[in-house]
Amino acid sequence: MPKKLYIETVGCQMNVLDSELVVAALRKRGYELTDNTRDADTVLLNTCSVREHAEEKIYSALGRLKLAKQAHPEKIIGVIGCMAQNHKRKVFSRAPYVDLVVGPGQLHQVPDLVEKVAAGAGPQLEVSLDRKAGSRDAVERSHESFDPLRDPSMRPTPFQAYVRIQIGCDKFCTYCIVPSVRGPEQSRPPEHILAEARQLAGEGCREITLLGQTVNSYRYRTGEQSTRFSDLLTQLHDIDGLDRIKFVTNYPKDMTDDVLAAVRDLPKISKYLHVPVQSGSNRMLARMKRGYTVEDYREMYARVREWVPAAAVTSDFIVGFSGETDEDYEQTVELVRECRFKNSFIFKYSVRPGTKGAELYADDVPEEVKRRRNNHLLALQNEISEEDNQAFLGQDVEVLVEGPSKSATRAAGAAASDEAGHDAPPEDAPPAADAPQLQLVGRTMCDRIVVFTGNRRQIGQILPVTVFDANAHTLFGEVVTQHVGPEVFSLQA
Ligand code: SAH
Ligand code: SF4
Ligand code: F3S
Repeated sequence: MPKKLYIETVGCQMNVLDSELVVAALRKRGYELTDNTRDADTVLLNTCSVREHAEEKIYSALGRLKLAKQAHPEKIIGVIGCMAQNHKRKVFSRAPYVDLVVGPGQLHQVPDLVEKVAAGAGPQLEVSLDRKAGSRDAVERSHESFDPLRDPSMRPTPFQAYVRIQIGCDKFCTYCIVPSVRGPEQSRPPEHILAEARQLAGEGCREITLLGQTVNSYRYRTGEQSTRFSDLLTQLHDIDGLDRIKFVTNYPKDMTDDVLAAVRDLPKISKYLHVPVQSGSNRMLARMKRGYTVEDYREMYARVREWVPAAAVTSDFIVGFSGETDEDYEQTVELVRECRFKNSFIFKYSVRPGTKGAELYADDVPEEVKRRRNNHLLALQNEISEEDNQAFLGQDVEVLVEGPSKSATRAAGAAASDEAGHDAPPEDAPPAADAPQLQLVGRTMCDRIVVFTGNRRQIGQILPVTVFDANAHTLFGEVVTQHVGPEVFSLQA
């Protein structure tokens, strides 16, 4: 009988990709996925440390697994990903029944470690070196990019894929744990990325999303040769079969003209730019050590508008960072009003032990004030997003159909989002046997979510949809019915 694996993933797209690859590696060892922990021989939690809440959620999940482990001591429980790297042995002390703690730079070891535990070797801990625990070279080597050959049968959807172009981060924003848990910034060799993208395209993948903490800082050097992010985009653009190339996340200071030229000139490159500003106050940006001023951001934003007028620009914000006054917050509000982001992910500052922010600054904004600013900014952003979406009424947009729409109802309209704030991919659900028509969800080239009625055959196709309603998060439409064959039109969205 095949062994059963249950995996739960929180955090950003990096974790979603890591989980896909861990599942693929375990399936090669005879594992099958199950959707409940009861049947599982192995339970893996792929974790996030970006805010305290994300970590507490995992400890609660572990608490719920305690009884199951007592009843079935042979059940293997593993904590993998960023919190494993952040807490290391502390995971065992808070949940002594955990068998496996594996950091994101050691994921290639998961199948062997699971087998070791199964063979009775006892608890296993595999993490990468801390940033200061060795030379740059040694620390880099201990954070291995986990990008084995992709297996088409194991991708969640055959027509979309994440592709890692960079691991780690060297920006060291003072609030952020990511440089500690994901290690030094390292760009993957372009030939590996291109080979992976070609393989994916050959298997019918139409859209790839390039992943990195600061993708536009990508640079790969060998000898005399240097590949910039814009060079990589140009090379990826040449791959036959790919229709859309998206990328997240951008660092404002590295949004150079060559990147904007590539976005403007290459039709397959998505004109969706996630460029988080975090705050509209120079005092906060300096404390956050973001490396730019609000004036720099405005200059960058103006260049985006000049080079790619139709671009959809989105941002992240942290409210209630140490020392944030009403005045600082008002400057953030002003910036949001001015830039009119397509949408923003807004977070309350969560102090992260081990960061410079935790060391240097008091977490001195009361929770109540953080909550008020968070809700206020969210309401403003929603207003802007809704107005922005209303502009699509009556227009045709081109939608890559992702699957059945689970949560989107016209009344609710709240977009599902993960720990890092980004939209969660739609989950697949079987259609009712007597209902060939179902609610489908997909996205435009600029990452706008579109819900419409269609049928299962349309999943994976790029279809024109006429928008007849819109709220802050979702466009609602119907498929344009003139029959020109599913792929022959070229509408802009
Ligand atoms: N590399 C990306 C973001 C990674 S984390 C970038 O630089 O934009 C995703 C978002 O989480 C960040 O943009 C930030 O808004 C938020 N975030 C990170 N650390 C946080 C903390 N300690 N408290 C609250 N929000 C945080
Ligand atoms: Fe964190 Fe800043 Fe790096 Fe983004 S750029 S991952 S916010 S340190
Ligand atoms: Fe790690 Fe992503 Fe969270 S890099 S800390 S899973 S936001």
